[in-house]
Amino acid sequence: MDPSLKIAVIGAGTMGSGIAQVAAQAGHDVVLYDARREAVDQALAMLRKTLDKLVEKGKLSPDEASGIHGRIAPASDLKELAGTGLVIEAIIEDLGIKKKLFADLEGIVAPEAVLATNTSSLSVTAIAAACANPERVVGLHFFNPAPLLPLVELVPGLATDSALPHRMAALMSAWKKVPVICKDTPGFIVNRVARPFYGESIRIFEEGIADMPTIDAALKGAGFRMGPFELMDLIGNDINFTVTKTVWEAFFFDPRYRPSFTQQRQVESGRLGRKTGRGYYSYADGAATPLASVEPALAASIVERVLAMLINEAADALFWAVARAEDIDLAMTKGVNYPKGLLAWADEQGAAHWHTVLQRLQAAYGEDRYRPSPLLARMAAQDGRFI
Ligand SMILES: NC(=O)c1ccc[n+]([C@@H]2O[C@H](COP(=O)([O-])OP(=O)(O)OC[C@H]3O[C@@H](n4cnc5c(N)ncnc54)[C@H](O)[C@@H]3O)[C@@H](O)[C@H]2O)c1
Repeated sequence: MDPSLKIAVIGAGTMGSGIAQVAAQAGHDVVLYDARREAVDQALAMLRKTLDKLVEKGKLSPDEASGIHGRIAPASDLKELAGTGLVIEAIIEDLGIKKKLFADLEGIVAPEAVLATNTSSLSVTAIAAACANPERVVGLHFFNPAPLLPLVELVPGLATDSALPHRMAALMSAWKKVPVICKDTPGFIVNRVARPFYGESIRIFEEGIADMPTIDAALKGAGFRMGPFELMDLIGNDINFTVTKTVWEAFFFDPRYRPSFTQQRQVESGRLGRKTGRGYYSYADGAATPLASVEPALAASIVERVLAMLINEAADALFWAVARAEDIDLAMTKGVNYPKGLLAWADEQGAAHWHTVLQRLQAAYGEDRYRPSPLLARMAAQDGRFI
């Protein structure tokens, strides 16, 4: 793909503004459009501040900063996107609205232009179905904040041209991103494999095994940068709950992904996290999240249970060929900063250990939620390694 191609970004919110910055930093001319023109102006003003800070820190020269800002042109009408060769959509997560936009775009951009969606939870295939040429539609899933997190999940839909993900992977590498190609299945890699980090931690809390600061401390002790409750408060409990619910529904209500009442009540009460000053923890007056010292045996049992569920999910994603083993591990380290890839982590103690932990949980709870992935069972029986 031509590195001088012109990029369009649609949606100037959290993700679109970050993606526009990434593309402009890579040297492309970018057209930024939003249904609300003021969102574009706000995004450009915020970007000015971000770039000024990078100049202050000596990470960019003043000329580089002006160049990046100057390469992003605001647009007030979708028609101004004519002439762009790659359109990246980052608007509201609503299938009907996205489909209408993609159908409109086909009447504006050239037939060879690539249409990409940054959707987190919708089917790329379903969005592409709105187009006369669905072979040029692909998922290009960046992580928040897009300028900082290197991972981009590349998701071909059913009708996507088979060469397109590879062309996009080359472009993302040129943008200094880490691309991984994955199947168009719910949650792609990261939002599927990461579910138990939140879900199993909430279960442990709901069962009264440990309180939230203790669970957070235990998992941070295992190398995770943030504990699950702190992280849910940062992401926003409304957003995290919606992803959980969407993945659960999209997997036809598989109990492994079942949402919790605990998180539902948080959302109902408006305790959405840092952004509302209160989530699982209070953030009023700069209050720090409580620290806990955890008894080592309790910490080990919390970590073992959450990690067993995470490893099982990674193994199952591999079993269903969602992505290659190396890419599943890369996704978790480069998209959500896990300290190690889960499959490499599984190999350290061996699949048989994790299989036994899951069988024990399944026997204790009698729930399908804990069923070991067929691949984990096979690896345990063969003493095999994932990586
Ligand atoms: N926020 C995240 O952590 C995250 C991470 C990865 C992917 N995503 C996905 O990226 C997309 C955008 O998410 P966000 O968090 O940036 O949302 P956001 O609410 O911050 O921004 C969305 C923007 O889209 C604009 N918009 C809505 N409908 C439009 C339309 N029809 N045409 C043009 N503009 C329109 C809105 O005015 C708004 O400025 C979603 O699909 C989301 O699932 C979000």
